[in-house]
Amino acid sequence: MPEKNHAFSPDGETCVITDPQPPRYWYNYLWNDLGFCAQVSQTGHGDSYYITARAEMCRLNAGGARYIYLRDERDGSAWNIGRAPLLAPVEDFRCTHHLASTIVSSRRDGIEAAWRLCVPPGEYAELWTVSVRNLAAEPRRLSLFAAVNFELEGFSYPRYYEMYRFCETSYDPDLNGVYCRARHPHAPHARYNGYLASSAAPVGFEGDLAAFFGPIGSFARPELLLSGRSCKGSCAALEVLGAVLQHRLDLAPGEEAEIHYLYGVAESPHDARAAAARLFAPGAAGAAADAAAASCRRRYGTLAARTPEARWNNLMNGWLMKQVDFCIVGKKGVRDNLQIADALLLYLPERAKQEILECLRHQFRDGHTVLTWYPYDDTHYSDQPIWIVMAVTDLIRETGDFTVLDEILPYQDGGEGTVYEHMCAGLARLIADRGPHGLPLLRFADWNDALNVTTDPEAESVFIAMGLLLMLREMAILAERRGEKAQAEQWCRELYDLKGIVQREAWDGRWFLRALTKDGPIGGHGSAGSKIYLNPQVWAILADAATPEQTRLMLEAVDTLMEHDFGFPINSPAYEEYNPMTGRMSAMLPGLYENGGVYCHASAFKIMADCKLGRGVEAHRTLDKIMPDSPANPSLRSGAEPYVFTNCYALHPKFYGKSYMSWQTGTSAWCLKGLYEGILGVRADYDGLVVDPCLPPHWPEAEMRRRFRGADYHIVIKNPDGISRGKLSLSVDGKPVEGGMVPAFGDGRTHEVEAIIRRP
Ligand code: GLC
Repeated sequence: MPEKNHAFSPDGETCVITDPQPPRYWYNYLWNDLGFCAQVSQTGHGDSYYITARAEMCRLNAGGARYIYLRDERDGSAWNIGRAPLLAPVEDFRCTHHLASTIVSSRRDGIEAAWRLCVPPGEYAELWTVSVRNLAAEPRRLSLFAAVNFELEGFSYPRYYEMYRFCETSYDPDLNGVYCRARHPHAPHARYNGYLASSAAPVGFEGDLAAFFGPIGSFARPELLLSGRSCKGSCAALEVLGAVLQHRLDLAPGEEAEIHYLYGVAESPHDARAAAARLFAPGAAGAAADAAAASCRRRYGTLAARTPEARWNNLMNGWLMKQVDFCIVGKKGVRDNLQIADALLLYLPERAKQEILECLRHQFRDGHTVLTWYPYDDTHYSDQPIWIVMAVTDLIRETGDFTVLDEILPYQDGGEGTVYEHMCAGLARLIADRGPHGLPLLRFADWNDALNVTTDPEAESVFIAMGLLLMLREMAILAERRGEKAQAEQWCRELYDLKGIVQREAWDGRWFLRALTKDGPIGGHGSAGSKIYLNPQVWAILADAATPEQTRLMLEAVDTLMEHDFGFPINSPAYEEYNPMTGRMSAMLPGLYENGGVYCHASAFKIMADCKLGRGVEAHRTLDKIMPDSPANPSLRSGAEPYVFTNCYALHPKFYGKSYMSWQTGTSAWCLKGLYEGILGVRADYDGLVVDPCLPPHWPEAEMRRRFRGADYHIVIKNPDGISRGKLSLSVDGKPVEGGMVPAFGDGRTHEVEAIIRRP
């Protein structure tokens, strides 16, 4: 394995990549509350888009086209600061991914250049600052080219209505740039115009990329640039829509030049000019970058952990909070958004609350919900009510505010109900929706959306049964607190009955089945293909569903049959052939994604289950394995960015350990909960903050900060006996407290909490 190609700053907030060609693009995402988002790879390229609250997308560029070129006018040699797409060699390449910006920098032939990208709050654009310094002893003449294309697609329209047919580009001297005007008759909003503006008058421009590329060129071989020619000033209609801005830099020895750019969407040229005037005013670009950084500090500043392991600290603080936050940018799905909101409660409770209430608006009166409300998809997945109950009860635990239960929200199919009625409707739905064995119906699918049993509409899901047990427990507790004793008792009886059914019907002898169908069980020792699934075992623990003997046996099965070097596969072994009885997952390559891959989201559920049982070694090992850049599967091999969680690691022998997709994955939410609520064990509860750590024995100490109901808590956990869980002595501000719970002080002050784990 080659040497590490990246390093974190001591505070973990910055990851510096020193190799322009990691195994795959290593992206950062920069976005603001208006919905403007820039995906930025280590080369500086990436997709730019704007997405409204109704998930109406405008993709500003195609194929991630966003490039800065430099050309030495002495000899015509050309290169990119971020090396791509020309791939001309550069020295001292560095990509610094920060929470609020990315800076790509390099040096070549005595010219040092840096390109900083950020997305300022309140703008429908990304802001770039390019600085170029002459380190040589003689004066240098350079051309600086910024090049992008305009796609402006992202909504559906009738045939022959492709966006390019309605676009034209033209130079706008007020922008020092190119404006791409679109007049699409079906555009869902007005911001389907794009522009690239600059802070200084260019010496040339192109609005037609064909003029830059030449007849057979491309961004990687732009004929105009490589032949030493200058921009001629083209415009495009129906052609290769884009913007190239050429600036001339005459630099004396030691001199530095700086140019700012705005690449964005606008309602009108006027709108674009106003943005350019705001951001190109003296000092404004620096202030905008500072504002983006301040916004990140505000968002991610109230929760922090310090463990004995640097890799954990780098990942589990700002980066993980940012990843969880990003997971629902532009996403409108009940299941995914509720799980993300549940983790956001730990540091952005108000944002989490709004998201939770929004999800409830997309529940039907009969309790089930849409899959996604934008775009609208009402395929009936059975799991959605589970997340509703989990998220709302956790919301109350976090805020202490029971009045949210009385808020009235509409249903997707008309009418309205209180939040509590929405929860009851979800619960009633799952209680009623049972199959032949008395277990809940799978419907189209459950959390595993690739386990869609097409052969049996009466298939039953053991995962949903576990989820329903958990809901019944949570709802009984809530009803009790509301003084609805009879209701609580009824749900307890329901729970008792269902537990009996689960222990009897869903047990396979050594572990729980995954589903029951008319063609036989899925995930049992006698099943064709996969014999064991992770979720039902782990959720049995979360839901207190198993007998002690069942717990012992299934843990043994998970530990001995399922553990891999980089996590736990979602099912094992993988399916080799498509089988309609198990649906889409069995058609995927064996060992990839939901077909027996290490699906990190499922492994992350396990961390919480391990902690519930006090299995600190296993919880730590599971999180450590799925965390990127693990010793057994370093980022250079897996391909996963070292600063964010990834969705899956492949177990297919040809692609062993590879990761393909990161950032937007529920893994992030469950790993955040896994560390803060599981391993460090600090959980909001109705009456205060529970402190119930489950450390790996080799951690002598760990600490965290957290805001809770208007006060800050600094919690130091000490583990002098080197165990996971034991007898806990807890003190707050130097005074002992009983019952493992810290009160909600709500006084705006910081409170010092000390928790010492001792051998009982
Ligand atoms: C994807 C989906 C998520 C689902 C998971 C497992 O991540 O977005 O909704 O739960 O796959 O199938």
